[in-house]
Order: sequence, then C-alpha cells, then structure tokens
Amino acid sequence: MNAPQRLGPDVEPDPSIPLPPYELRMGGKHFKKDHAFVNAGVRDARVLRQRAGLGRRKRVLDWGCGAGRLAVGIKHLMGDVEDYHGVDVQPTLVAWAQEHLADDRFRFTLVDAHNARYNPDGRPSYDIPGEDGSVDVLHGYSVLSHMTASDVAGYARTIARLLAPDGRAALTAFVEEEVPDCVENPEGYLPIPLKGELHCVRYERHFFEATMWDAGLAVSDFAHGRETDGQSMYVLRRR
Ligand SMILES: C[S@@+](CC[C@H](N)C(=O)[O-])C[C@H]1O[C@@H](n2cnc3c(N)ncnc32)[C@H](O)[C@@H]1O
Repeated sequence: MNAPQRLGPDVEPDPSIPLPPYELRMGGKHFKKDHAFVNAGVRDARVLRQRAGLGRRKRVLDWGCGAGRLAVGIKHLMGDVEDYHGVDVQPTLVAWAQEHLADDRFRFTLVDAHNARYNPDGRPSYDIPGEDGSVDVLHGYSVLSHMTASDVAGYARTIARLLAPDGRAALTAFVEEEVPDCVENPEGYLPIPLKGELHCVRYERHFFEATMWDAGLAVSDFAHGRETDGQSMYVLRRR
C-alpha cells in the first residue's frame, strides 16, 4: 500500500502505549516500523480534528478499527476522548485491542458481519453496535473500499442512524469520475496487484454520493485521492 499524505510534525512512539504486533497491523509493509504505524494513526486523528470536529469530549466510533490504529493515534495525540468505540469483524485483531488498548474510555467490540474478504462466514448484517444519534465522529478508514454497492448502501443507512445531529462521518473510498458505477478489482487502476475478493472496490463519484444521499447523508467535505493508495476522504453529515 502507498502511505497517505503527511499532516503535521511526527511524534515519537510512547513506550507506555502498546502497539500491535506487525502481523496484526492492517495496511501494508510500511507499518512494520512502529514510528510509521504510530504516525499514521496520529495523522488520521489530526484529520478528524481538522475536518470532523474530533475533540476530547467527543464520542468516537471507529468502524473497521483493525487492531486499533486510530486508537493508538488518539492516545498519542490527545490522550483520550469521551468514548472511543472500535468495531471490527476479525477476532484476533479485536482480542488484541481489548487486551492491550482498552481502558475506561477505549473499548472494542467484535461483530460477526459478513465480508467476503475479511469475514466470509459471517452473518449478513448491516448493523454497527451503538445507540441511535450517539456518535459525534464516525471513522471508517479503508472499509468501504472493500465492500460491494449493496453493502455500502446498507451501512450508509446505519451510519446515518448512529450519527448525532451535529455528528460527522469520515469515510475513505476509491472514488473517480467518468468510470462505471462500481467495479471490483478494476484492472490497471492501482500500481499493485489486486489479489482476492474485494481487494479494491472503486465507485463513480456521483453514484457514490447519491448512495450516501439516499441513505440520509450529505457531503460536507471531500478530498480526492489523498488517502491510502489514492482513496478519497468524505466527511458526511445527516441531512
Ligand atoms: C483495510 S482494513 C483497515 C483497518 C483500519 N481502519 C485502519 O485503517 O488501520 C479494513 C478493516 O475493516 C474491517 N471490516 C470489514 N468489514 C467490516 C464490517 N462489516 N464491520 C466491521 N469491520 C469490518 C476488516 O476486518 C479490517 O480490519
């Protein structure tokens, strides 16, 4: 994977904050180095602070949290938040995060939702645990990029339901103009070999935004191509 653009000065890894072993770090070879892994999390926390209103009194839902890269970033950048809730479908990642990163303000939940790439035996479901209107900042980094159009539409409805009235959802996706609405593993799109189901699902920009709108979400910010492997960042609000 190619790393996203930098944002702000690097921070040194804090030895008191546990880091997942390399094999549990989602996102590519450059994360082998602790410094790169920590600073990728810090960078995402900065993006959320600048664009999605992240602050210490906010309730954060990290959907598709992996082993807690954003949690590590928040702990380094700002210590804590009102509530950080990481949700993922991979038992080993969630178990590690529960054991090493959970505390009074940070929690992690395993869900058994189907994803052909990450949890092929899971149940068909678009549920994300949480009360309606309870999330100030929802983060979904490199999650929709591994989902079919029907899954994107289903989860967008869930996200709209979970967001607080002034909440924001920061979601990355592969989005381009003048391409077919949805293509799984588009040939020649990325400079890396695409392996296995749902490695890269690319959306047409207007199709993607109409899907969000139909689910009850409006675009409040968009930055094309600056995230991992050229994904784009959407910040969405309830409409
Ligand atoms: C490419 S990884 C990104 C992990 C993390 N967001 C990050 O940026 O480091 C995609 C993650 O989404 C998770 N995932 C896929 N489908 C999911 C679903 N339906 N619900 C929750 N997590 C899901 C995967 O298990 C995986 O950890």
